[in-house]
Amino acid sequence: MIRFYEEEKIFMLQTKDTTYAFENLKGYLRSLYFGKRIDKLIDLPKMPFYISDNLSRFALDVYKYKNEFVGSGSAFYSDETLKVTFADGVRDLELLYLKHTINDNELVVTLKDKFYSVEVDVIYKVYYDVNIIDRSCVVRNTGTEPFTIENVASASVQIPYADEYYVTYMGSAWQNEFEIQKSKITKAAVVAESKAGYSVATNAPYFAVDDGTATESYGNVWFGALQWSGNWRISAVKNDMRETSITAGINSFDFTYVLNGGESFEAPILSCGFTDKGHGQASRNLHDYQRLTTKATYWKDKPIPILYNSWTAFEFDINEEQLCKLAERAADLGVELFVVDDGWFKGRVDDKAGLGDWVVDENKFPHGLNYLINKVNDLGLMFGIWIEPEMVNPDSDLYRAHPDWIINFPTRETFISRNQYVLNLAREDVYQYIENAMDNLLDKHNIGYLKFDMNRLITQAGWPEEENQQKLWYDYVKNFYRLLDHINEKHPKLLIENCAHGGGRADLAMTKWCARVNRSDNQDPVDMIHLHEGFTYLNLPRSAGGAGHISKRAIYKKESPMSFKAHAGMLGSLGISLDLNNVTEEEFNEVKSYVAFFKKIRNTVQMGDIYRLKSLRDSQYALYEYVSKDKKEAVLFMFGPSIPYRYCFPHIKLQGLNPDYTYEYDGGRRKTGYGLETVGMDTGVHIVGNLDSKVIVFKAVEE
Ligand code: DGJ
Repeated sequence: MIRFYEEEKIFMLQTKDTTYAFENLKGYLRSLYFGKRIDKLIDLPKMPFYISDNLSRFALDVYKYKNEFVGSGSAFYSDETLKVTFADGVRDLELLYLKHTINDNELVVTLKDKFYSVEVDVIYKVYYDVNIIDRSCVVRNTGTEPFTIENVASASVQIPYADEYYVTYMGSAWQNEFEIQKSKITKAAVVAESKAGYSVATNAPYFAVDDGTATESYGNVWFGALQWSGNWRISAVKNDMRETSITAGINSFDFTYVLNGGESFEAPILSCGFTDKGHGQASRNLHDYQRLTTKATYWKDKPIPILYNSWTAFEFDINEEQLCKLAERAADLGVELFVVDDGWFKGRVDDKAGLGDWVVDENKFPHGLNYLINKVNDLGLMFGIWIEPEMVNPDSDLYRAHPDWIINFPTRETFISRNQYVLNLAREDVYQYIENAMDNLLDKHNIGYLKFDMNRLITQAGWPEEENQQKLWYDYVKNFYRLLDHINEKHPKLLIENCAHGGGRADLAMTKWCARVNRSDNQDPVDMIHLHEGFTYLNLPRSAGGAGHISKRAIYKKESPMSFKAHAGMLGSLGISLDLNNVTEEEFNEVKSYVAFFKKIRNTVQMGDIYRLKSLRDSQYALYEYVSKDKKEAVLFMFGPSIPYRYCFPHIKLQGLNPDYTYEYDGGRRKTGYGLETVGMDTGVHIVGNLDSKVIVFKAVEE
């Protein structure tokens, strides 16, 4: 997996299909190659053509370009990986090779400044089977004098030379998350970032680079996702030698971190990879990586339960009697998990009070929460609940007792959003309070699912009691992860849904603890079909959740048939939020049939591989295909928001099947996997008119 060629001073990292190589050139780590797998050292590219072998004349260029880790200073003007200011005011860093260790799938190359007591571990972890390499770094102060980190990225990734590259990223908005964007990479950097304290709905920490020709199933794609839920920055830029590099990590916006002697700083992981099979394969590699590295191991091989959630139908207007009745109806539908969303705690009649106290509202729940939970459990359903632990309403006992616990600058008015402030989770007392509140809720109730919400940006990022208060951005996130680890260790069977007013914190780090994600609060089915495309670039398709795919809430008065909503919901983890006591018997039975149908196809959808065959971005219809890992079953979703009259469908070609298997579909039609991939599916199955959808199941059969 990892080899060091002593004589040539070359490090070569192999995954199943890719090679990543760099050399130690006079102490500098210079990238040689990242791409399709090569096995022989002689096949590695040598010096770029523009650099003569005469190192003395061009020495600066050789050292300066294509660095794996760029210390700020000297003549390094490309995006730096690390910038520090030393106690004497010097801000020049020259990091040179000190040593390296190889341990199974991990390589650590330690760099050291020529003069100052700073060491950096440049870390590579190879995930061979899933073709992903994790990069990160640890900065150490090995001296006694403190120094200040002003900027630290996780890694600089060098893309092999080519004339032209484009970067794909998500440039979106609340309710319109995961919108796929593509920009040409020029000498003016393309920067995607968050400065809002969390990874943010307007962007997701993800990138993919290609030469402009890559499609879902074709072309070279270099891609990566940052495992960080706070401020982040990913830049793509070409240097004056027209070489392209990506630098990804914590955003230097308003950031400094003082490292005292003996202390170290750990940067987040950047998981990156290469494929020559287009964006679809890039996604599938990231999905397999998530399956491999999840901390929510209990849910790893289990389907996500179909849920009923109170939010879309009732918002804050919930009570014990109404929920008990709803639970009975939900059980009758075949739902497996009953979720009480926002509104269960004291003071919460709207969004103005109660956040932070987490005391059950006894007017709404006169017998306490356990009464409802027992009822739900007796019906054979799991019970789930909503919480937003990082927040506090000014109208709460917590805020009255500890106004200093919020993130604030004493001389500035703290911006209030949705009537709430953000608690300073970086503080140990705040952390302990929140951990205790979570323990209180989870230890005393049989809760199987937690909707972990977060509904506002961090502003006025002050921590008045702390001397080095800019560390807040980092320590907040570290304590947030500590909290998730704590919950996960204590309650390993708990299913956690990652929610930040929709997909606002849906980054790769969160996938470790959260098997379900609120992809978006926008649950209009046509919008969902758009959202799912960008969402699955990064996230496991099965994690695509939310409160109610089948609900009666029509966004902007866009109405759609129940079947269309249900099919869109089935692309991930189906959720229902209807007032089940106010639907017709016909509607109830219709929803019941979707629940039953989803259970039949769920294994393939949730455990299989996704192929995004057609996108609404460039077509009249969308096609999503899922193939089980053993390739014995495939499920094809067809969506036509508006198919023109007499539209002639081509033979739809499937992907990812076993060419030697014979598949049966559509009530008896048969074709081999080879036939379905090369000739395509017979077009007996159509979608027509407005808001039509079909789900076709392909099963491998004996001939
Ligand atoms: C925002 C979430 O995205 C919604 O689904 C819902 O849980 C509300 N918060 C509740 O306040």
